[in-house]
Amino acid sequence: MRDVRRASGLSQRALADRIGVDTQTIKRLEGGVGSVATLIAAMTALNFRATGVGRGSSLSEQLRDCRSKRAWSLEQVAAKTGLSRTTVASLERGGGSVASLVKVLAVLAPNARRQAPERSYWGQGDRADRDSRFTPPDFMDDIYTAFGAVDLDPCADVRSPVIANRRILVSEGGDGLVEDWFGGLAYVNPPFSNMLAWLRRAYEQWRVGNVRTVVCLVPVRTDSAFFHDTLIAEADIFLLQGRVKFLSPQGKSQHTPFSLMVVTLGTTAEQRRRYAELASGHWLARI
Ligand SMILES: C[S@@+](CC[C@H](N)C(=O)[O-])C[C@H]1O[C@@H](n2cnc3c(N)ncnc32)[C@H](O)[C@@H]1O
Repeated sequence: MRDVRRASGLSQRALADRIGVDTQTIKRLEGGVGSVATLIAAMTALNFRATGVGRGSSLSEQLRDCRSKRAWSLEQVAAKTGLSRTTVASLERGGGSVASLVKVLAVLAPNARRQAPERSYWGQGDRADRDSRFTPPDFMDDIYTAFGAVDLDPCADVRSPVIANRRILVSEGGDGLVEDWFGGLAYVNPPFSNMLAWLRRAYEQWRVGNVRTVVCLVPVRTDSAFFHDTLIAEADIFLLQGRVKFLSPQGKSQHTPFSLMVVTLGTTAEQRRRYAELASGHWLARI
């Protein structure tokens, strides 16, 4: 909490003013003492989100989600933490003390940590390295189930787990920005450093009928004229909730530090409905 507050350039007094408490309360909170209600208010003010806890818009909702995923009753959590059932129930409603919360987190979500602040780049590494992040198999499973088998990966990589009937590989002299695409479904997770060129290419190849359907996984960058003049009218766009854990060339999983969207061309309403059942997020309404 202290680190996040300092990184936000706020004094204890300024944070206290923002959430309507006195400075002493913030001091105590940063020492691990206080109420969960104040903690949640401070987290909201600092845009401090926890990850590794479960889904929900507040820490208490996340706790509830985490417990139900583990299929534990309130009594079981109480027994594991040495707290009363009432205290555990109260934490899940945003009540209770930080000390009790810490005990519950240790049992329910030992990997809980602060979600990294959003940034618009992958971070360390040269461009080739940053562009080599592979779609994880669990993300692809939802794509295959909702949209069918992938015919073409036009920006493939031999290290990627994406299953496609045909792959265009730079390592074999291919170039997905030059070669014609073809087939039913093209799945495109492009080098993000050149995202716009790939979205244009996907659109052109779909427009001329070389591919029937395109599904692209890209960062939510919507400032281009191309996005507003063309894609917004013709693509169906799914805004993903949470961050996707991509695979690095070293085989490590790494959450994107930025938000992602799935841009689809030529998908059917039935396919989109199925995808929304599987993935967390929302289709942008087209009016
Ligand atoms: C973000 S990775 C995605 C790989 C794979 N499509 C996946 O989803 O796991 C993008 C890949 O595109 C490849 N690439 C870059 N420029 C390309 C081009 N002109 N034609 C085909 N592939 C290219 C890079 O080698 C890189 O591995």
